[in-house]
Amino acid sequence: MPKRIRTHVNPLGILKEHSFEGFGNDKNIMIDVGACKGEFTAALAVKFPEKNFLVFEIRVPLADKLREKFKDQENIVVFDGDAGRNFKSILTPCLEQGAIIEKIFMNFPDPWFKEKHKKRRFLNAKFLKEASESLDCKTEFIFQTDQQFLFDETLEMLKETGLVEVSFFKDPPFGIRSDWEQAKVKEGCDIWRMEFRYK
Ligand SMILES: C[S@@+](CC[C@H](N)C(=O)[O-])C[C@H]1O[C@@H](n2cnc3c(N)ncnc32)[C@H](O)[C@@H]1O
Repeated sequence: MPKRIRTHVNPLGILKEHSFEGFGNDKNIMIDVGACKGEFTAALAVKFPEKNFLVFEIRVPLADKLREKFKDQENIVVFDGDAGRNFKSILTPCLEQGAIIEKIFMNFPDPWFKEKHKKRRFLNAKFLKEASESLDCKTEFIFQTDQQFLFDETLEMLKETGLVEVSFFKDPPFGIRSDWEQAKVKEGCDIWRMEFRYK
């Protein structure tokens, strides 16, 4: 089935909104949010050729490169723009086709240090609440970071929502280290990892 994506650019030219017709099948889906060069997704797709993949990258030039990288893989679809903004509209047709959103990877998301910029973090209480309308305990969220303060603040936020059950893990998922992780490990940084599901 061809990849069919429609992009609507709003009149202000600031926000891109996408719609997606789904993969046309009920295969399990994995999501990579903030994929950058896409090496993590590429490794996942080799390991799990029977699954579908949704890839989000806010920076358009990077997303264009990702599209080029995955152009021959019908089971991988790339979206540019803010992942949170388009999340529900992209997931809805997939869920209607019977697909399970198996894993959502948030690998080394931008920390947005300043207080006033915190709302730009993809994983925030508003997102979690909205996503709970579409997703349930079948979906596993994976959050990895080299920023301890971001890990702590995210954990605190998750606990405050009371929506999810959290656990921690030590090694890279499926033995795959993302590009960012490889660079940080070389620098000698520690990595913090957690997974969570809706209750
Ligand atoms: C620190 S990099 C990590 C890249 C990759 N996940 C890895 O681990 O190698 C964070 C990436 O997330 C992207 N990003 C940040 N906010 C985003 C958002 N709201 N939606 C989609 N991508 C986002 C950035 O453009 C950047 O490529």
